[in-house]
Amino acid sequence: MGTAEGLGDRMRTAAFAERQAVAAFTWAAATFSDAPEQLRQDWLNQVPEEEKHYGMIVARMTELGFGLDDREVSRGLWDTLSACTTGAEFCVKIARAEERGRQAGVQLVAYLKGKDPVTAAIFQEIADDEVAHVALAQTYYGWSPDQD
Ligand SMILES: [Fe+2]
Ligand SMILES: [Fe+2]
Repeated sequence: MGTAEGLGDRMRTAAFAERQAVAAFTWAAATFSDAPEQLRQDWLNQVPEEEKHYGMIVARMTELGFGLDDREVSRGLWDTLSACTTGAEFCVKIARAEERGRQAGVQLVAYLKGKDPVTAAIFQEIADDEVAHVALAQTYYGWSPDQD
């Protein structure tokens, strides 16, 4: 990812993942009646943070001159999540996806350090927030990233 275009693509993918997280947590809270009531509330409580992440990335993309619709993004994550049949399955699958995204964000922060500290700080804040999101799978279903 040594080019401005590469960074734009990376940010677009990240923005779309946040957007999918907003939709997925809202949908899951309304759908999985098998999940504990508190977990469904925890999912809903996370939605404003995912919206914040989306807004931070999109605002920075605008500052950098990257268009949100310049290129297509994959809807694979949504397809995977919407195929879940239980709250437990959803909880672990989205935690796995969020952890993957978090790791990619941490790598991006390392890459951007010294080059683009403003964008680096945005992805650092997001990576920090995502720790608690991923931890829901541990709290409710005993799943942690190092189990994969
Ligand atoms: Fe997020
Ligand atoms: Fe998240």
